[in-house]
This record gives sequence, C-alpha cells and structure tokens, in this order.
Amino acid sequence: MGTGRGGRRSAEGVGIVPAYIASLAKTGAQFTVEEGETILDAAERAGILLAYSCRSGTCRSCLTRVLSGCAEHDPEYVSELNIDADELAANYRLLCSALACSDVTLEK
Ligand code: FES
Repeated sequence: MGTGRGGRRSAEGVGIVPAYIASLAKTGAQFTVEEGETILDAAERAGILLAYSCRSGTCRSCLTRVLSGCAEHDPEYVSELNIDADELAANYRLLCSALACSDVTLEK
C-alpha cells in the first residue's frame, strides 16, 4: 500500500514525510524533491543535470526563477548566499541551497 502522491513513510515508519514535484518549464522534466533535500540534489538524484559549480550559494551558476509554487532558502544561511533581496522578491532562488515547500515550477 502506497502513501499517495506528495508523501512517503519516514524511516521510522511513523508519520508522512512530505515530498514535492519540481517541474522544469523549458524541458517539461519533473522530479521529486524530498524533505530537507535541495532542489539541485533532487534533480541529480533523478538523473537531471542542472548547471552548478560551488554548491554553496556563492557562484550563482544555479540561479533560476520560481514560476509557480514555493522554494525557499534555509533561513539560517540565507544571509550568506550570493543573492540579494530584490532577486528574492522576484522569486529567484539558488537551487543548490533551495528547498521546495510545495510543488514548484522552475524557469529552467
Ligand atoms: S552552485 Fe554555486 S550558487 Fe549554487
């Protein structure tokens, strides 16, 4: 018996750990982003290669715009990332440091 779309059993078998679907607008590719997983890591796990370099929020290679849905940087580290408030307000995110908080469509 499955847990249905958008969820999976946690390692302990209790509760449901959310997972979201990320879609790439340019290719139509889709992949699952699990709780606590960066969108870049989730794409790689699915065999989808996205541009990146530093993986630490400084080079901006992974910068893209969120067209719909929710993706947020970890608030603990957002001040250390190479992205400014105007870009955040315009829904740009660094995929190496962004977590999905709903199903999300990206301008990639
Ligand atoms: S890979 Fe360098 S900022 Fe994301």
